[in-house]
Amino acid sequence: MDRRQALKLLGVTAATVFMAGKAPKTHAALLEDRAKDKKRLVFYFTATGNSLFIAKQFSDSPLSIPQELKKSDLVYEADVIGFIFPDYAAAAPMIVREFIEKAQFKAPYIFSVITFGNASVNVAEWWDKFATGQGLKNNYVNHILMVDNYLPVFDMKEQIIIDKKTDENLAKIIGDISTHKDYVAPSDMGWFREDMLKNMQDMHFSQTSEQLIKLDASKCIECSTCTKVCPRGNFRLTDNGLEYSGKCEFCLACIHNCAQHALSLERERNKEARYRHPEISLNEIIRSNQQ
Ligand SMILES: Cc1cc2nc3c(=O)[nH]c(=O)nc-3n(C[C@H](O)[C@H](O)[C@H](O)COP(=O)(O)O)c2cc1C
Repeated sequence: MDRRQALKLLGVTAATVFMAGKAPKTHAALLEDRAKDKKRLVFYFTATGNSLFIAKQFSDSPLSIPQELKKSDLVYEADVIGFIFPDYAAAAPMIVREFIEKAQFKAPYIFSVITFGNASVNVAEWWDKFATGQGLKNNYVNHILMVDNYLPVFDMKEQIIIDKKTDENLAKIIGDISTHKDYVAPSDMGWFREDMLKNMQDMHFSQTSEQLIKLDASKCIECSTCTKVCPRGNFRLTDNGLEYSGKCEFCLACIHNCAQHALSLERERNKEARYRHPEISLNEIIRSNQQ
């Protein structure tokens, strides 16, 4: 049986454990593990689907942070609470930080899994410190290597063929969390200095959509996908065509999910190559982010 058939037959969650070479667990056993946590709330943010794919391994109905932020009552209590989101310059996306600052969480076991594409640096420690400062003490913070969707540096055509051992790492993380392990992943690049990271973060998080995103109007067919996948609601279709403004999350959801390749950054490794996780649909990104 090849890998794809195994995934189909067992369901992705079971297959990840199976493929890690550990004692194989049936799908039913994994569902039983989930049931042991009587009430489990899993929150996620995603632009290209990696974090939603991981969130779906921990909950059948994970909650989108951009959608939760629309609610007025942000008080959550459960037996287990989890957060899944991408690493942006060894920190959390602004929208994730905003959610943590506004909401209150109560659970005996709290975990976070941060998806990243190349070097997580000290993102787990950063998140642990940041969240603790907001009154949210994590029992477990880990990171998981996946496709790197950062277009200025990476070519998506090259990224999708690299084996990042995501299945094996996910199986280990699922095992850790199901046994309620206490752990914060250490830095993988000790030489990164705080001021270097701060500069990178300022560069990413201080600009507007119109400063960062370029539109090739000749390619735009006004399908409105970008208006639906932007977690900040920065894009509008007007009588004059597509317009956009407002503080940019720099998540790149608009660019990656534009089938016409009408949106891009000024500088990119490969403007022809775009990415969305193969198991996540465009509609799922829209449901996650639409404002
Ligand atoms: C603005 C931005 C900054 C990023 N910074 C890092 C980084 O510092 N280190 C890293 O390994 N990956 C970085 N990435 C890659 C993403 O963390 C990674 O591809 C993630 O899995 C994407 O998740 P998503 O598909 O749920 O949006 C960055 C991506 C973006 C868009």
